[in-house]
Amino acid sequence: MLAPLNPADPGFARDPYPYYAHLRSRGPAVRVPLANGTHAWLVTGHRQAREVLADPRFSNVPPQGAGRPKQDSPAQRARGCLARHMLNSDAPDHTRLRRLTTAAFTPRRVDALRPRIERLTDGLLTELSGRLAREGTADLVDHFAFPLPVLVIGEVLGVPEVDRADLRTWTYRVGSPADALEDGAADDAWTRLHAYFTELIATKRDAPGDDLFSTLVHDADEGGLDDGELLAMAFLLLFAGYETTMNLLASAALLLLTHPQELADAQQGGPGHWAAVTEEVLRHASPLEGTTWRRTTEAVDLGGGTVVPAGASVLVVLAAAGRDPEYFPDPDAFRPARHRSGGERPAPHLAFGHGPHFCLGSRLARLEAAVALPRLFAALPDLRLAADPETLPYRPGLLVRGPRTLPVRSG
Ligand code: HEM
Repeated sequence: MLAPLNPADPGFARDPYPYYAHLRSRGPAVRVPLANGTHAWLVTGHRQAREVLADPRFSNVPPQGAGRPKQDSPAQRARGCLARHMLNSDAPDHTRLRRLTTAAFTPRRVDALRPRIERLTDGLLTELSGRLAREGTADLVDHFAFPLPVLVIGEVLGVPEVDRADLRTWTYRVGSPADALEDGAADDAWTRLHAYFTELIATKRDAPGDDLFSTLVHDADEGGLDDGELLAMAFLLLFAGYETTMNLLASAALLLLTHPQELADAQQGGPGHWAAVTEEVLRHASPLEGTTWRRTTEAVDLGGGTVVPAGASVLVVLAAAGRDPEYFPDPDAFRPARHRSGGERPAPHLAFGHGPHFCLGSRLARLEAAVALPRLFAALPDLRLAADPETLPYRPGLLVRGPRTLPVRSG
C-alpha cells in the first residue's frame, strides 16, 4: 500500500524525485491515494508518458461541472472564462483552436521578438543591479524570473507599455498562494484582468498592432475564434507562458549558481553551450511537474498488467519522465554536456509535453532563456546565492515546480 501523497508537503515539493522513482519501479502507471481523499493514476516512465500524451483515449476535457464558477461573482466568472481554452479541449475542437493559434505563432514572428526581449531583460538587470547595490541582496524570482516572462507575454498580447506594470501586479496576485495576500486582493486582480482583456480585444479589433494577439483577433474576424475563445486564449497565453518560464529561469539560475563549472563552461562556450544548459534544466528540473489532468474515455491497457479503468484521472509526470534512467543515464546529475553536439544525444525530454497539446510557446520559452541567462551572468559576474539551496521553498502542488524565492547577492 502506498502512503497518501500530499503535494502540499514542503519536503515533497522540494524533492519529489525519490518518490517518483519508487512509483516508476512499480509499473507504467500507479494508482496513488492523494491527501485530499481522492485517487489519481500517475505515469512516471518516459515511454509511457509519450504513449499516454499521444493517445486520444486520454481526454483533456474536464469532467462536467469541474472549474465552473461556484458563486456568481465577477472574479468567479473570470476564472470560468479561462476554463474554455484549448488545453481543456480534444479534437476536433482542439484541432480548430490549435490551427488558428499556430498560424499566429510562426517561427518568424516569435524570432522577431528577440530585440524586444533583449531590451526588457537589460531593463530588469539595470533595476536588479541597482537593488543589489542599495540593499545587498535581492530575490531573483521576484525581480527577474517572474517579471521577464510577464513582460514578454505583454509583448505577445500587445499590451501598451503604460499598462505593463498593472499586468505584472495582477498576474502576481492571481498566481500567489491565497494566504500570501490580503482578503479580496486575488479576486480583485481576476476581475481587473478579465475587464482588461475584454477591452484589449475591442482595441485590437479597432486598431490592430504588430503583436501576435492582433493577428488572432484579426483572424477571428475572418471566421476564427469567437470573443469567448479569444478571452480564454489571452488568459491561457498569460498563464501557460509566465509561471513555466519563470520556473525555467529560476531553476536555471539556481542550478548554475550551484554548479560553477557548468556556468563557466557555458560562459566560455557561447550560444550552443547556453542552449544545452536550457535543455538540461528542462530535463532535470521540469518547470511543469505534470501535464494538465487527463481522463480516460475507456479502459486502457498500458501493458505490464496495468489497466487504467474508464473515467480515471491521470497525471503524466513530466518531471519523472525526465529522470527515467532507461533514457537518461545518471539521471539525477545536472550535465548540460549530454545535449551538446558530440554528447550522449539523449532522448528528447518531455518538458514541453508531447502529442497534440505539445507546447505552443516552446520556441518563445527557449528564446527567452537564450537571451536572459547569458545576459544575467554577464551583467552580474559576481552573483552568489544568499541562502542555503537545501532550504529554499518550492511551489506546492503537482503541476508546476520551481523555487518560490531565490535570494542572491553580488560578490
Ligand atoms: C519553459 C517554459 C514552458 C514550458 C516548460 C511549457 C510546457 C508546456 C507543456 C508541458 C504543455 C502541454 C501540457 C499538457 O499536455 O497538458 C504546454 C502547452 C501549452 N503551452 Fe507551454 N510551456 C512553456 C512556455 C510557454 C509559453 C511562453 C507559451 C506562450 C506564450 C506557452 C503556451 C502554451 C499553450 C498555448 C499550450 C497549450 C497547447 C495546446 O493545448 O495545444 N507555453 N506547455
